[in-house]
Amino acid sequence: MKKNILIVPGDGIGQEVTAVGKKVLDKIAEKYGHEFTYDEALIGHAAIEATGNPLPDESLEKMKQSDAVLFGAVGHPKYDNDPSAKVRPEQGLLKMRKELGLYANLRPIKLFDELLGASSIKPEILKGADILFFRELTGDIYFGEKGRKDNGDTAFDIAQYSRFEVERIARKAFEAAMTRGKKLCSVDKANVIETSRLWREVVQQVAKEYPEVTVEHQFVDATAMLLIKDPKRFDVVVTANLFGDILTDEASQIAGSMGMLASASIGDGTGVYEPIHGSAHDITGKGVANPMASVLSAALLLDISFGLKQESEDVINAVDQVLKAGFRTGDIADSSTPKDKILGTDAIGEEIL
Ligand code: NAI
Ligand code: MG
Repeated sequence: MKKNILIVPGDGIGQEVTAVGKKVLDKIAEKYGHEFTYDEALIGHAAIEATGNPLPDESLEKMKQSDAVLFGAVGHPKYDNDPSAKVRPEQGLLKMRKELGLYANLRPIKLFDELLGASSIKPEILKGADILFFRELTGDIYFGEKGRKDNGDTAFDIAQYSRFEVERIARKAFEAAMTRGKKLCSVDKANVIETSRLWREVVQQVAKEYPEVTVEHQFVDATAMLLIKDPKRFDVVVTANLFGDILTDEASQIAGSMGMLASASIGDGTGVYEPIHGSAHDITGKGVANPMASVLSAALLLDISFGLKQESEDVINAVDQVLKAGFRTGDIADSSTPKDKILGTDAIGEEIL
């Protein structure tokens, strides 16, 4: 198979982990006789430094032209401490999602058995947890009008969803539910938020097309509690952009670490595959970032964008083998991990290869 993959490392540990993800794709190409060619593009702080624009047209064009994008993360401490900065790395990320029509963000939350002890949640609560989140990615409060009034003393962000936007993400989630446990939980806050009321109404409507799927509607606050109390009760979960952002960071603790969680952003055009974590300034440049989220994102890329199921499983198995052999990065090590088994980003990448 001949494919053209765009590598977009972005900022901070995005650079470090995406390099490992790319090597894994390379290894798969070599092993299975595929021809993957690569190009690179700038986004985020790196792009602002080079061009003044967090998503230069050239990068966007390359994304549109490629068969799939392996993305890292964006962010720089400079902006975190200066909320008034007008040009910001996240603008590049949001624009990429909008321009590529990436309305569905899939976040599989799967715990590798070897990491049962790495989570702060009790193993008996976790064992067997396997959730697939569908986070809506191009609407909600992130993309609505925002601003200040009253001389800057009042701020507002408008949350907005159209029927069409809810329908298409709901449909993706129902389709996935049909291939899994035929169980779907739709998360909203329909008791108080109007966009949530539309959300619930539309999900109920789409549900009629999938009579085999058992649907549950849940308020986001209760979901936050139940995710930790009883993660096994969830199978496919569909929710709005903001709720999904927060709930999946929370759910990362089911998988042991943010460094383990991959995601696929899909929609109208090129798919983008990325860890759910950010640029992690606190560990940038130390060579300790866990690259598994990027490697598992590469596995999603092979499966979803290229339909290469076996290759994808091969990558997931490689991660599993490395964990079984006892190797850990710092974020997933526990008190029982021998010091010589704690590896840096590149070294654990070599084990996976
Ligand atoms: P973060 O996800 O970068 O880090 C949160 C915590 O998890 C940190 O303690 C970090 O060290 C740890 N962590 C994250 N990924 C890890 C990995 N692969 N291995 C080991 N440990 C890992 O979120 P934070 O610190 O809130 O934000 C840092 C920057 O990232 C900010 O500028 C933020 O705007 C940006 N960000 C970007 C995102 C993206 O590009 N998709 C998503 C979230 C945040
Ligand atoms: Mg987030």
